[in-house]
Amino acid sequence: MDFRDISKKRITVRKFDQRPVEKEKVDLILEAGRWSPTAVDYQPQRVLVLNQPEQLDKVREFCTFGYDKKYVELTEECDTKDHKNNVYYYGAPLVLMVCYDKDVCWKHPQSGEASGSTDATIVATHMMLEAASIDLGTVWISYFDKDKARKLLNIPENYEILCMLYIGYPAKDFKPNPIMSGKRFPIEHTCFDNDFAVPYKTEFFEEAPRNPFENNK
Ligand SMILES: Cc1cc2nc3c(=O)[nH]c(=O)nc-3n(C[C@H](O)[C@H](O)[C@H](O)COP(=O)(O)O)c2cc1C
Repeated sequence: MDFRDISKKRITVRKFDQRPVEKEKVDLILEAGRWSPTAVDYQPQRVLVLNQPEQLDKVREFCTFGYDKKYVELTEECDTKDHKNNVYYYGAPLVLMVCYDKDVCWKHPQSGEASGSTDATIVATHMMLEAASIDLGTVWISYFDKDKARKLLNIPENYEILCMLYIGYPAKDFKPNPIMSGKRFPIEHTCFDNDFAVPYKTEFFEEAPRNPFENNK
């Protein structure tokens, strides 16, 4: 797959098949993260691989968030606010908890601004794209109870939690989120031509496929 295909195949998946992700594929995903650039090459990312049932049970405990139709259109069976049904877990067989060590990451010498969340974001993005290239669906999860996650997973104090990636084969009846998936502003809305007053004009514009996993069923 060329990069354009991979970038369009990466769409958010919120309904996973129960089939485990093969170790070779987990390794490929982690390797993609390993080669990500980080500030001064300090590599402060710390990625916790969660695929054992007892660890995934813990994810179910802290992955709750306030449901808002504006953000997520959940499939019917998920459309309940009963967190005890673990509805925001989406059945992922593999979860990567992406953290960074705040004692290791680069800090801007003048402003003191830490680069850790940027570094870890790049790592997570590389891993998502690698996952898409090997036919796995992903969703980036920022909205969860990080304090509870820290406690349940024994995450060290000096590790900042960035996000979780849920990863797995999309469920057979997976459908992309009709509200947000595959919708992007035209280039001229977000890119500018030498001057922020001048929108960047281009004829080059591609629609994303509605469900890039359709042929994988
Ligand atoms: C930084 C970030 C945080 C996100 N947090 C969540 C989340 O907590 N829960 C969730 O279901 N989706 C989350 N998403 C997924 C976005 O809603 C999704 O990427 C967006 O709607 C675009 O759809 P697409 O990924 O299919 O292109 C997050 C995505 C990003 C990049």
